Amino acid sequence: MVYQNEEVAKAAEQLRASFEQLDDKKAIRRAPELTALYERLKTKPSDERAAYGQEVNQLKREVEKWIFEAKVPEVDLPPIDVTAPFDVNVPAQKLPDLLPAKNASQHPITRELEKVLDIFGRMGFATIESREIDDDYNMFASLNFPEGHPARDDYDTFVTDDGLIAPAHTSTMQNRVLKQFKPQLEAGKGLRVVIPGRVFRNENLDARHEHTFYQLEGVYVDENIHAGHLIATLKMFLEEYYGQNLEVKTQPFYFPFTEPSFEFVLNCPFCAKTGCQICSHTGWIELLGCGMIHPNVLKEAGIDPVKYSGFAWGGGIDRLVMMKYGIEDIRHFHSGHLKFLRQFS
Ligand code: DAH
Repeated sequence: MVYQNEEVAKAAEQLRASFEQLDDKKAIRRAPELTALYERLKTKPSDERAAYGQEVNQLKREVEKWIFEAKVPEVDLPPIDVTAPFDVNVPAQKLPDLLPAKNASQHPITRELEKVLDIFGRMGFATIESREIDDDYNMFASLNFPEGHPARDDYDTFVTDDGLIAPAHTSTMQNRVLKQFKPQLEAGKGLRVVIPGRVFRNENLDARHEHTFYQLEGVYVDENIHAGHLIATLKMFLEEYYGQNLEVKTQPFYFPFTEPSFEFVLNCPFCAKTGCQICSHTGWIELLGCGMIHPNVLKEAGIDPVKYSGFAWGGGIDRLVMMKYGIEDIRHFHSGHLKFLRQFS
């Protein structure tokens, strides 16, 4: 690019030289040369201002292009044998962080999930990641769904010829987590875990339904735990996340793995219950499913349901984020549209 204005041409040269040296290529956006050019715009006589401003903007666009085109360093990935037989009992491997955030920014779901996990972390919850392939035992049997029970139809998802399942909810992790934390529970330290994960459903796609989305499961078990603890925990989390006091209520519902089961409802944070598009003009939002863990689910994990009780919940992370920012269509998250994503970077 050739610049007519001498100051702009000189700054372009300096910027190019310092850009090559930078580890964090994005830092060039804050370069003093660029700021100085914009500062000088104010002092230009009015007949020069338009032409000068155009060149400065052009240089800024050029700098953006450098950043966009800069090479992302290669990352060593552990080799994965995709032909190896799959064993659902082997814990999922954590991949290294793929992009050292040079030319990239976090996806809004990732960014918000970090906030969510931070809040639960401060409330004493450990985090265990869910997995993206599972089996019938974890998806249904361990969760008190009898074989052939119609409740299985609510979780219509994708299955391989060998009977492996793309999980339709993060509740697939409940049995594993209950077993894993049983010693801690029996040592009198309680069991508090949140489980984020990607889930899959055979859905008719629209602004509120995606085939792939994210859920956060929560499991809390100890002696003398009752529904009051469930309501207080979720209310506290939601008020912290949305930064405002909320009214909440529970409505009766049915899940095989909880008894009693509830739908957790909160007043619409957008319209103070007067009714708006977000809450379908009802003033209330049905946010997630929850309940007191069914004794059969505890028993299946070897936990004594007479001595211990607990609650669990599972809700969409996408939904939580959509409500926070007034995002009207869930499909934006997977669209890859930079116009959408950049609003969160
Ligand atoms: N897994 C349920 C779903 O996706 C949500 C849910 C309900 C999770 C109750 C729970 C629970 O842990 O206790 O529809």
